[in-house]
Amino acid sequence: MKILILQASPRAKGNTAWMAQEFKNAAEAAGHQVTLVNVSHKKIAGCLACEYCHTKGEGACIQKDDMQELYPLMAETEVLVLAAPVYYFTLCAQIQAPIQRMYCVNKPAQVKKMALLMSSYSPGVYTGAMAEYKDICNYWNVADAGVVTAMNDEQKTDETKSKIVALVNNL
Ligand SMILES: Cc1cc2nc3c(=O)[nH]c(=O)nc-3n(C[C@H](O)[C@H](O)[C@H](O)COP(=O)(O)O)c2cc1C
Repeated sequence: MKILILQASPRAKGNTAWMAQEFKNAAEAAGHQVTLVNVSHKKIAGCLACEYCHTKGEGACIQKDDMQELYPLMAETEVLVLAAPVYYFTLCAQIQAPIQRMYCVNKPAQVKKMALLMSSYSPGVYTGAMAEYKDICNYWNVADAGVVTAMNDEQKTDETKSKIVALVNNL
């Protein structure tokens, strides 16, 4: 399957980047075609709510920023993986922008499944992010393939890697 991983931590060698890379390694080993994008290193603005896309734009966004690189990848992926650190009890802003910029086309056209990888410092901080993720799965009518979280001493461990591999093998 075609898999797109959106990695949203600005820390290139951080915990979320590690989880995303482990997912990519496992998915490629299982024969999937994987694209990993660090969206935090892209210039992706928030939606302007100008409604250009739904009027004159015929589904195209008026903002010509780095989201234009993501639209074709989003359009063809069958599995969308969100990888994000928890900031203030929810998904970080760097993952919110590309999700909300899908407003112009409503949903990624080919996506059948989604997965979520999250890291945090503390335990018990995932409720808000999980609720948002589940609501998006429902709204886009895609299956939730699974969620892996890693807080503090779970980060970059063999146990977390095993959970990621199990998720991939369950796709
Ligand atoms: C702005 C900011 C807000 C954060 N908010 C939380 C939080 O609400 N709960 C928590 O447990 N950790 C919080 N953290 C810690 C990160 O979630 C944690 O260090 C995570 O592993 C960072 O991922 P990374 O290594 O991929 O960047 C915050 C970090 C930053 C920079």
